[in-house]
Amino acid sequence: MVKKVVLAYSGGVDTSVCIPFLKNEYGIENVIAFAADLGQGDELDAIRDKALLAGASESLVGDLIQPFIKDFAFQAIRANALYEGRYPLSTALARPLIAKHLVDVARKLGADAVAHGCTGKGNDQVRFDLAIATLAPDLKVLTPAREWGMSREETIAYGEKYGISAPVSKKSPYSIDLNLLGRSVEAGPLEDPFVCPPEEVFDITSSIEEAPDQPEDILIGFEEGNPVSINGVSLDPVELMRKANLIAGIHGFGRIDMIENRVVGIKSREIYETPGLLLLIRAHQELESLTLPVDVIRTKQMLEIKWAELVYQGLWFSALKDAIDGFFDRTQNDVNGFVKIRLFKGNATIIGRKSNTSLYVSNMSTYGSDDNFKHNAAEGFIYIWGLPNRLWAMRKKQKNK
Ligand code: ARG
Repeated sequence: MVKKVVLAYSGGVDTSVCIPFLKNEYGIENVIAFAADLGQGDELDAIRDKALLAGASESLVGDLIQPFIKDFAFQAIRANALYEGRYPLSTALARPLIAKHLVDVARKLGADAVAHGCTGKGNDQVRFDLAIATLAPDLKVLTPAREWGMSREETIAYGEKYGISAPVSKKSPYSIDLNLLGRSVEAGPLEDPFVCPPEEVFDITSSIEEAPDQPEDILIGFEEGNPVSINGVSLDPVELMRKANLIAGIHGFGRIDMIENRVVGIKSREIYETPGLLLLIRAHQELESLTLPVDVIRTKQMLEIKWAELVYQGLWFSALKDAIDGFFDRTQNDVNGFVKIRLFKGNATIIGRKSNTSLYVSNMSTYGSDDNFKHNAAEGFIYIWGLPNRLWAMRKKQKNK
């Protein structure tokens, strides 16, 4: 019998309704709300009060912005992580961090369970459940919204009985997830994959029309694979992410419209705005192309696909992800230097890169007179490199005679 539960709380209707639901239908005396500050810009005092009003016995807010960017976003940048080649995991990265803190709070307060308000169709339930199961196999995970079977209207009506006011913007048809890495928007008119996303869907990126008519060049500095400066100014991870969002967002860079494959097998259409994160991943990729040996790049690219899948699919805390991180970390010592990018009308074009750990050796690459490359070595190389293919071609010719 659960007596005390820590609930992952966002201030939205679903998680608010979870509070009276856990108390009344599950008979739990102590429901503690835990809200995570991930830089989403919410009024956190209001959220804290809202949970108390809904009947929480305690309402906590954890400032997780710093670890979110430093330990999760930067790891994703080092991994050049793009799920299905496009989505930089802005929502997915937050879940294991929240799960970890839910577990920590539960331990500290002696709770015997944790809870979340995810539904049964999404990816987030998978991420929470798996992270919690790995970090604290003994803790019960309660998932009221997966079990109550209420429609949106019924959920709102249930909440109203317990003093939870209906959402102000009842008319917004969208489901939105927001944090410092970006916005994810789905539902409403977006459910038709052929419908062009209306401009109202976007908030942190300019449209092409509104974007400045003048391009802007920026310089991003990296040390050991981590972004550390913009335009020569050193910034801590959080400041840097804010700044990258702002600059890229103004120029309309970082909008993604995609059909993605959810863990539960459903295809869904999602609109993302991830200006800063996407910009930093592009810049980081570019610096790797200058500083890493070709075989390391090729192998890393294969593992990057796997890494993004693991994180998307809820396996942040797993043996495989851990092992791949070990490989990635080992590759990043030499990823130092600067990338120059031109932002203009929705584009971020790489226009320069330099590094004091560069593998670009000019007397090898040059077409000028200081060329040191042994041209006559190419002939023997090509003879041997092409030998298997020539043998194959000869046999084919004989057969066709
Ligand atoms: N599809 C994204 C993911 O699974 C975002 C999920 C939340 N999206 C939303 N619009 N509420 O990571």
